[in-house]
Amino acid sequence: MPSWTELALECARVARAGLRIPQEESPVAVVLGSGLGAFAEQLEGARGLPFSELPGFPRATVQGHKGRLVYGMLSNAPVLALQGRLHGYEGHDAATVAFPARVLATLGARALVVTNAAGGTNPSFAPGELMRITDHINFTGKNPLLGPNEDQLGPRFPDLTHAYDARLAEALEEAARASNQKLRAGVYLMMNGPSYETPAEVRMARAMGADAVGMSTVPEVIVAAHMGLPVCGISCITNLAAGISQHPLTHQEVIEVAKAVEGKFLDLLRALVPRALAAVPPRRALA
Ligand code: HPA
Repeated sequence: MPSWTELALECARVARAGLRIPQEESPVAVVLGSGLGAFAEQLEGARGLPFSELPGFPRATVQGHKGRLVYGMLSNAPVLALQGRLHGYEGHDAATVAFPARVLATLGARALVVTNAAGGTNPSFAPGELMRITDHINFTGKNPLLGPNEDQLGPRFPDLTHAYDARLAEALEEAARASNQKLRAGVYLMMNGPSYETPAEVRMARAMGADAVGMSTVPEVIVAAHMGLPVCGISCITNLAAGISQHPLTHQEVIEVAKAVEGKFLDLLRALVPRALAAVPPRRALA
């Protein structure tokens, strides 16, 4: 079995050749959550590779994975975007879920912008609002770094104090002001899913200090921190979490609200990318 390091190096080589990513470039990387795929279509000179052509990515699951790694330019900033992501609830372990983020870091991304849909546990939140992730609670009982440490990538016991980078947080706040958008801020708690939470779990999440709950993002953030890649996280609050809202929660509702918010979310991302590029220094690629 190849190590994650070997797989990430191999995948990065394939991506660099296939997408013609210049070696000296240090792009802004973006993980596009539900309903945000259109962002990748807006990149100039965009070229993409399906996950199925990227070594180390899992073979398509039952539903068939529609996912691509896309490279292109936005306002003169090089961007690497993951259109679609892997989820633990599909049966992947946390290291597999986080592998694409390791590839982005291996390609020399300077910043990782992670986006998702989440349920609001903070009763002052309203569906359709966007939230800057200030910190997270890993409530999955899993960690992508379980197993032997891959010393080439990072330390055995990585610090997560500053996993959500202050410079990128400021860049995001500035992007929100520039695009005239209200931006909330709060703590994201990750559950395994795929069932939504019970009202008691939502009360627990709230008592633990969470403002939003979701089923993604944390594995990617942990491997990014491990590899010294600064992160900026944004949640789209698609619904009030179970029990805060009295009506039953459906995936349909999550998709509909994400769709309705897509325009302003894309505006915010467009405003963020050049600011993120300026906010943090380039990183060196491993492959
Ligand atoms: N819970 C968990 N994940 C979610 C939710 C939720 O309420 N909404 C969107 N993703």
